[in-house]
Amino acid sequence: MTVLVTGATGTIGGPLVRELSSAGLDVRAAVRSGDRAAVLGDLAASAVEVDLNDPAAVDRAVEGTDQVVLITANSERQVQQENAVIDAAARHGVSHLVKVSVGGAAPDAPLALARDHYLAEQQLRSSGVPASLIRPGFVMQNLLQYAGWIEKDGTWRLPFGAGAMAMVDARDVASGIAAVLVRAVPAAWNEYGWTGPQSLDLSAAATIIGAAAQRPIHYVDGSGEEFYEHYVADGHAPGYARDITTLYDQIVRAGWVAAVVPGLEDLLGRPPRTLADFAGDYATSFAAEPLSH
Ligand SMILES: NC(=O)c1ccc[n+]([C@@H]2O[C@H](COP(=O)([O-])OP(=O)(O)OC[C@H]3O[C@@H](n4cnc5c(N)ncnc54)[C@H](OP(=O)(O)O)[C@@H]3O)[C@@H](O)[C@H]2O)c1
Repeated sequence: MTVLVTGATGTIGGPLVRELSSAGLDVRAAVRSGDRAAVLGDLAASAVEVDLNDPAAVDRAVEGTDQVVLITANSERQVQQENAVIDAAARHGVSHLVKVSVGGAAPDAPLALARDHYLAEQQLRSSGVPASLIRPGFVMQNLLQYAGWIEKDGTWRLPFGAGAMAMVDARDVASGIAAVLVRAVPAAWNEYGWTGPQSLDLSAAATIIGAAAQRPIHYVDGSGEEFYEHYVADGHAPGYARDITTLYDQIVRAGWVAAVVPGLEDLLGRPPRTLADFAGDYATSFAAEPLSH
């Protein structure tokens, strides 16, 4: 079985390519340019160069595949990119398309990215391609981009308030997608909402990560505006930064992503990773200095 994975160098796509390849599937790992193939390491040979903004390149990559996993970055071109893949999948008679979407995708969602996912979902529905939608919760690996924000005294300022999140490890999302790909597609339209096994606020999360990183880390509630300025200074586009600020400062803060959703465990045949598991595996990324073991 040949599977095209877009976003193959990303947080979910990376572990997914690895998993599918070790399961013996013929993987086409779509990377935006030739130089990005190196990110795949020993799997670089499975890379196909596809700028998702180039519909002809998308068409070539999709042709001859049995299944497609559609993962794209949030941007003002996301809907256009996703539609190009969906249209190509329909043209080439792909038997199943798995799209990574978000919870709360709706035409009137407060986040532009959730409105964009909704539009792409509509395109997918009307394409007639058998589809599975994956709606992961907040991915633990998102926290890695804020590891460098931890101050010398351990202060970690983020605008989550006391809002809890049922964070899920990207590697488990990848394993769940792999399971969805290898089993029979249950229906023409399937939806999966996946979280991790615990609901934790950032204060509890900081303590767990600090224990693994062998340094005290204290979460401090910060303002949305302060976060926005810092995030833009880190190189993120203002529109995306505004969305992420709203996500943290309003949606997470209000407790709207706190619920644990079961379901992933059945697909994985084991419980999903805890935040302590994640923190142990990524401890060096959060450490102030090299860890002593
Ligand atoms: N992270 C979460 O918590 C979460 C939760 C639920 C849903 N999601 C959804 O999951 C999706 C992925 O999000 P993420 O933040 O995890 O993404 P990510 O790790 O940044 O991955 C995005 C991928 O898209 C690739 N890409 C970007 N522009 C491209 C282009 N023009 N042509 C080809 N490839 C391109 C990137 O390649 P490069 O490596 O070259 O940049 C990367 O491989 C998003 O749609 C998001 O809404 C994320």
